[in-house]
Amino acid sequence: AAHRFSLVSVTRLVTALLLLHLRAPLGDCRLLHVGLVFRHGHRSPIHPLPNDTYTVANTWRDGLGQLTNIGKRNQFELGKFIRKRYGEFLGSSSTAVYGGFYAPFHTQHAPFSAGVDLASPVNCKVGEAYNSSEHRVRSSDIDRTLMSAQACLAGLFPPTGDQVWQAGLSWQPIPVHTVASSADPMLLPSDFEGCRQRFVQLTTEARRNSSERRRLEVEMAGFLRRLSAEAGSGRGSITLNNVYKVIDTLMVLRTANLSLPAWALVPDTQLRLRQLGRFSWSEFASTAELRQMRSGVLIDDLLSGMEDAAAGRGRRLMIYSGHDVTLVPLLAALGNKDYSVWPNYAACLMFELHATAAGNGSLAEVKIFYRNDSQAEPLPIRVPGCGSGLACPLHRLAALLAGCRLSPGQFRSLCLGDSGHDGTGQAVSLDSTITRILIAVAVALPSVILLLAAVHFFWLRSWLGRRRDESPTVAYHSLLSEVEN
Ligand SMILES: *[C@@H]1O[C@H](CO)[C@@H](O)[C@H](O)[C@H]1NC(C)=O
Ligand SMILES: *[C@@H]1O[C@H](CO)[C@@H](O)[C@H](O)[C@H]1NC(C)=O
Ligand SMILES: *[C@@H]1O[C@H](CO)[C@@H](O)[C@H](O)[C@H]1NC(C)=O
Ligand SMILES: *[C@@H]1O[C@H](CO)[C@@H](O)[C@H](O)[C@H]1NC(C)=O
Ligand SMILES: *[C@@H]1O[C@H](CO)[C@@H](O)[C@H](O)[C@H]1NC(C)=O
Ligand SMILES: *[C@@H]1O[C@H](CO)[C@@H](O)[C@H](O)[C@H]1NC(C)=O
Repeated sequence: AAHRFSLVSVTRLVTALLLLHLRAPLGDCRLLHVGLVFRHGHRSPIHPLPNDTYTVANTWRDGLGQLTNIGKRNQFELGKFIRKRYGEFLGSSSTAVYGGFYAPFHTQHAPFSAGVDLASPVNCKVGEAYNSSEHRVRSSDIDRTLMSAQACLAGLFPPTGDQVWQAGLSWQPIPVHTVASSADPMLLPSDFEGCRQRFVQLTTEARRNSSERRRLEVEMAGFLRRLSAEAGSGRGSITLNNVYKVIDTLMVLRTANLSLPAWALVPDTQLRLRQLGRFSWSEFASTAELRQMRSGVLIDDLLSGMEDAAAGRGRRLMIYSGHDVTLVPLLAALGNKDYSVWPNYAACLMFELHATAAGNGSLAEVKIFYRNDSQAEPLPIRVPGCGSGLACPLHRLAALLAGCRLSPGQFRSLCLGDSGHDGTGQAVSLDSTITRILIAVAVALPSVILLLAAVHFFWLRSWLGRRRDESPTVAYHSLLSEVEN
């Protein structure tokens, strides 16, 4: 009996060792590509509260909407986290696990070409040392996101080896790419030149259709009246459409450990503001069209990066430095309605492309994580339709997101709407009076609609202009809401 027992034990031990040997590299070391989308770090308020103790003169000396020192630390910490997760987890302590597979540092930047052994641990090292052909950083053209990208990169890629260029300085310059907000369909789609009307229209439609909005209009009427007096500029100044500004500014103060105004400490107020914050975000990406317009081009870029990597081309690491308005629609497009809550500063959505045990790039799988809290492990994000596991085959993820995905060109033509179809070369017979009448009607009707839309638009613009004039020196970005009253 003793004999049999030890035989079983030995078999088990051998099996366990074999599994360990097979699974360690397969489980952790088949990383092909990483795409990271994050929100900027802590910033000064964009919409200061009236009579706030903390002003540009005494606290936010760099102006409104600017990255603070806390925000720089948020991003520097995120950069170090990314380095630890993707850059150094193959460090010297892991050599034992990988045994013969482990390659010394200088050979780990093997060319990333088709035919590369996907099981090789070299592909795990997406972030050890900055390499201009493997890493790319893209930011929206706003001070706080550009600065966030730089603070993050300071933590992620301190110079090593011959990258050290200035003794005593553990920093190296790394390019952060951007395009003007009016031409950025990827990170600031609603600021894209000529798209405002489309966003206004989609937002208005979604609101008109929302039963929760109707319910809240009634339920919150008294509360919003009270809040208008306490936190706004008087009667009717705070509505369902702009209450997010109050919530946003309170989040700025709370994160900086600054004292909140007395009205904001009332538990009922806090409860209702949480509810309204959640509502604002759920409405922000509530329809398929809104999700597509707000996240489609970014989804296209993320998927293309992964598809290239799966085919043995492209970069190992793509970083996108964006906003809360970047993360929320993306999470919604991934089918995670639960995340219609305000993303934290430096919250980061991580797309990891892993080769599968079965082998080649066309079978690569995506794992998605959300790091909303620097004190906690990133949360795994499961995409509905991908099965029960966390890993989602890339081709399936691409199919699930196909309805959202937009090339920049498609985005542009959706913005321009039907006017994009205006042909010039149509030959029409003008013989009959009926045709003429039909043409007259066809020409007049859109004109009337356009006129009405233009009146509406100019009224809105002058209204927004007036709002903007109230703080003309501020780089003002009303990122959340296209239609505020
Ligand atoms: C940077 O990456 C490219 C492409 O993978 C590679 O050919 C090159 O050797 C790398 N450079 C360094 C310094 O590792
Ligand atoms: C409006 O709501 C109805 C029912 O909830 C839904 O079927 C319809 O698609 C919605 N329309 C829009 C434009 O969201
Ligand atoms: C702000 O201060 C002015 C003058 O001190 C006061 O009249 C007003 O009620 C205050 N407003 C709020 C919202 O506290
Ligand atoms: C705010 O206070 C908490 C708890 O004391 C502390 O952990 C945190 O670091 C503080 N944050 C800042 C920005 O000072
Ligand atoms: C993200 O962090 C914010 C702020 O701490 C929190 O309110 C929110 O619930 C968090 N979201 C998730 C999905 O954990
Ligand atoms: C990769 O796998 C797919 C699907 O099994 C197969 O069609 C393709 O030929 C394979 N490619 C290579 C390079 O092995």
